[in-house]
Amino acid sequence: MIFGKETKAVRPPGFVYQRITTRLSSSEAAVTLHCEGVPLPKLAQKFGTPLYIYSARMVHERYDQFNHAFADLSHTVCYSVKANSNLSLLRLLAKKGAGFDIVSGGELQRVLAADRRAAKKVVFSGVGKTREEIAGALKAGILLFNVESESELRALAECANRLRKTGPVALRVNPDVAAETHPYISTGLHKHKFGVPIASARSLYAEAAKERYLRVRGVSVHIGSQITDAAPFGEAMSRVAELVRQLRGDGHQIDFVDAGGGLGISYQDANADFGRQVREYARILTGPLRGLGIRLLLEPGRSIIGPSGVLLTTVIYRKSNNGRRFLIVDAAMNDLIRPALYGAHHEILPVVRRAAAKETTDIVGPVCETGDFFARDRELPSVQEGELLAVMDAGAYGMALASNYNTRPRPAEVLITGKSVKVIRRREKVADLLRAER
Ligand code: LLP
Repeated sequence: MIFGKETKAVRPPGFVYQRITTRLSSSEAAVTLHCEGVPLPKLAQKFGTPLYIYSARMVHERYDQFNHAFADLSHTVCYSVKANSNLSLLRLLAKKGAGFDIVSGGELQRVLAADRRAAKKVVFSGVGKTREEIAGALKAGILLFNVESESELRALAECANRLRKTGPVALRVNPDVAAETHPYISTGLHKHKFGVPIASARSLYAEAAKERYLRVRGVSVHIGSQITDAAPFGEAMSRVAELVRQLRGDGHQIDFVDAGGGLGISYQDANADFGRQVREYARILTGPLRGLGIRLLLEPGRSIIGPSGVLLTTVIYRKSNNGRRFLIVDAAMNDLIRPALYGAHHEILPVVRRAAAKETTDIVGPVCETGDFFARDRELPSVQEGELLAVMDAGAYGMALASNYNTRPRPAEVLITGKSVKVIRRREKVADLLRAER
C-alpha cells in the first residue's frame, strides 16, 4: 500500500485525509482520515471502537507554539492535568519541560508517577483541597499553592506547621471580569465559587505573612475556560498587576503571577491559525505585566490537548423516526460528555470520505438518555452501518470526564507518533468495573 499525497488537511499535522492507493487500484475516489501516518480504519480493526486517538506531533506542535508565544517573558507552562491526565501524555509534556496544574491529590500522584522531578513545577488549584491533599503536596515540594479562601489558608498554615515544611502561597483572586463562555465554565465573577475577592486579598496576604511556615510568593487568577476573546485576559491581568504593586508596597515578595488557563480553541473552524491566536493571547495577557519582573505561570489545558485527539466510533444502526434520521454510534455520553453537558459542538467526520449525497441526521449514542447525543441536525455525507466516524477535537475533557454510566467500560487510548502506535490505556473490561464492588 502506498500513501498518496494529502488531499485535504483537517487538523494538520495530526489528522489529515489521505488517499490510499493499492498497486491494483488507484481509481477509488475515497480518501481516508489518518492520524499522522496511520489510517484510522487500521486502528479500529486492531483496537476496536470507541477509541481515543492522540497525535504526539500535534501535542508537540501546540505546546511549542504556546511556549514560544511567551518567549520574551520569564515563564513556565504548567499544563492543566484535568484536561487529559493520561500518564503517557503527562510524561511527553514533562520531557518537554512542562510544569503541571493540579486540582487533587490524585492528579499529584499522576504527575509524580509520570516524572518525580516535575513536583517542583506543580501548582495546586481548587476550592476544596483537603488537609490530606495539602500535606501530600507539601511533602512533594510543589512550586505553589493557589489558595482560594481564608479557611484554606488556615488549613495550609496548620499542615505546614505540623510538617515543618514551608508552604509557598499565592492567593487565587477573583478579578470580577466577565468572559464569554458557557456559564458552567466561567469562573471570574464574584457570584462564582472560585478565588477570593480581589478587594479582600491584601488582608489575607497580611495574615499569610504572619505564619512562620508560609511564604507569600505570588498572585493567581483563572477566569474560565474556552474563552476565545483575548480582551478579558488582559483586563484580569491589569487588575492583578495593580494588586502586585500594592502587595509589594505592603512589603510582600511577589515572584509569580499565575494567569491560569482558559484559551479557547476553534471547534468549528479547522483552518484557524493557532500560532496567530496564541501570539495575540500572549500579547494582550502580558501587556499589563511588563516591567513587573515577575515569572509568569500559565495553565493551558484544552488549547494544547483538545485538537490533538479524536474519538473514533462505529455506526451501529441507522434509524428513522417519523422522518427524523438517527445514526446510532457505539460511543456515548459516558465516553465524551461535552455535547450533553454544555451543548458543545464537535465536528464529526466520516473516516472514509467518498462522493456521497449529504443528509441531515442526529448522531446519538446507546445510553438511555435523550441527552446522549453528539450532534443534532448535522449535515453529513451519508454513512452506512458499520462505517467509522471521527468526533474531532476530543483530546481535552473527553476521556478525562468519561464515566462508566450504563456499565460501559471506558475506551482504550492510543498515541500515534508517525507510523508508530502505542496503547497508552487499555480498554476497560466489565470485570474492571465489578472488581471494587461487593
Ligand atoms: N486552571 C484552572 C484553575 C482551571 O480551573 C482550568 C480549567 C484550567 C486551568 C484549564 O483550562 P483550559 O486551558 O483547559 O481552558 N469540562 C469543561 C472545561 C472545564 C474547565 C475547568 N477548569 C469543558 O469540557 O469545556
